[in-house]
Parts: sequence; structure tokens; C-alpha cells
Amino acid sequence: MEAGVTAKVRHSSETRNPESGTRVLRCEQLTLDYITPRSQTHAVRHVSLEIAPHSFAGIVGPSGSGKTSLLYLLSGLKTPSGGAVYVGDFRYSDAPANDKIDFRRRHFGFVFQQPFLVPYLTMLENVLVPAHDHHEPADMEYAQELLDELGIAALAAKFPNECSGGERVRASIARGLVTRPEFLFVDEPTANLDLATGKRVMEVLCLQRQHGTLVVVTHDLEMLSGADVGFRMRDGELIETFRP
Ligand SMILES: Nc1ncnc2c1ncn2[C@@H]1O[C@H](COP(=O)(O)OP(=O)(O)OP(=O)(O)O)[C@@H](O)[C@H]1O
Ligand SMILES: [Mg+2]
Repeated sequence: MEAGVTAKVRHSSETRNPESGTRVLRCEQLTLDYITPRSQTHAVRHVSLEIAPHSFAGIVGPSGSGKTSLLYLLSGLKTPSGGAVYVGDFRYSDAPANDKIDFRRRHFGFVFQQPFLVPYLTMLENVLVPAHDHHEPADMEYAQELLDELGIAALAAKFPNECSGGERVRASIARGLVTRPEFLFVDEPTANLDLATGKRVMEVLCLQRQHGTLVVVTHDLEMLSGADVGFRMRDGELIETFRP
């Protein structure tokens, strides 16, 4: 990683809300069942795991093994059918809906498998959507730095439909990072990128560890080369915890 990148982002992190300490993320006996009139899918089965503060954790496994479902459970976007998710001592998964929304807004960041950009906002404005105060010069500066690190600074004033798919993905990654969340959850960030761009994206994502924890779902083990821990899923079960 380039020294300049690290230095710049450290400077930006000085403005971070000190309330956002860093905590262990863990789950116990987590399950998710999708029940429809036609089928029952046990997408996640009795998964227990722990992710240390400031670490980079990867979730791998074949298509349909429950990676996205597990990520959505850990990040509170889905409610478990059983078990619990804890952030430190806070039993997050059972909190009242309003508390969950507020907690998620303050402590979690997301990068979805699809970029989901707002079509009538520029790329830069899209990155700033989750920023706590859109008018803070520090947020604007950080958003521009992130676009720069991701190689799309020249596209800041363009609209998403004027950009390529991979450029939109990179804007969504900047949007996930811009709040310097305590936990950043990322689903398949490199699936639609060439190898060199994918590696660059992973380097930029790894800057998140200065602010908190990074949890990445990926098919590509190479993208986990800097990770502290990997969790391998198969048929909804956690079958292996490994050192990538
Ligand atoms: N909304 C849903 N309703 C019913 N079944 C679902 C739903 N979403 C996912 N599933 C099923 O749950 C299982 C796990 O899906 P999930 O999306 O978590 O897999 P994945 O490991 O992320 O796969 P991929 O690598 O293809 O993204 C699959 O069998 C899938 O068909
Ligand atoms: Mg998935």
C-alpha cells in the first residue's frame, strides 16, 4: 500500500466521532430460514463466530451457500429466525426497530452486490449520501480523496448513467467508506472488476481497518490476502474458520 494513501486517510480520521469505539462483533447459533408457500430454505444454520475489532474478516463459499444471508444477518438488514448478533455487549439483533435503525446509521456501512446509486445525483453526491453532515467540508474532502484513491476522481461530476458498471461499483465502495463506520459490510466488491482494479479496491477497503472492522463476502480467495480470518460456508453452515 502506498504510504501517501495511509497518511491522507489518517488525517481525515481525526474528525471521527469518538463515541464510535470499536467492539467485537459476534453471533451465536444464528439461523435464517426462508419459508415460502412453495419452499423452505435453511440459508444459515446455527452459525457462531467472532470478529475482533479492527480486523478484516472474509466470508467465502460456493454460490447459494449463505454468504450474503450471513452478511445481512450480521449487519441487521435481516432478522434472524434464531440465535443472536452482538456488538460488544449489545444484543443488536433483538433491539427495537428504531434503535436498530439508529445504531445502523451511526455504526455500520454497507457496500451491496449491486451499486444502487441514485440516478439524479452525481457520483460525488452519491458518495456523500450517508455522510452524517453533507455540508461538512471534511466529508466532502474525504469523499473526493476516496474517489481519487479508487481511480475515479475525474468522474465526480458525472451522473451514474454516464459511467461504466465498474466505475459505479467503485463509487458505491467510496459511499460505504465515507462515514468511517465502526463496521463496514461488503458483498462481492470485486466480482465485476478486472484483477488490477479489484486489488486496488481491496487496498482502499483495507484502509477501513484504521476506523473499524471490515467484513467482506467474496468468491475470490486472492482478495482475502490481507485478511485476519476467513469463514467458509457450505449449505448454510460455517464449515471452517481459517487464516487466509
Ligand atoms: N429472499 C429469498 N427467498 C428464498 N430463498 C432465498 C432468498 N434469498 C436467498 N435465498 C436462498 O438462500 C440460500 C442462500 O442464499 P445467499 O444469497 O445467502 O447465497 P450466497 O452464498 O450469497 O450466494 P451467491 O454467491 O450466489 O451470491 C440460497 O439457497 C438461496 O436460493
Ligand atoms: Mg451472495
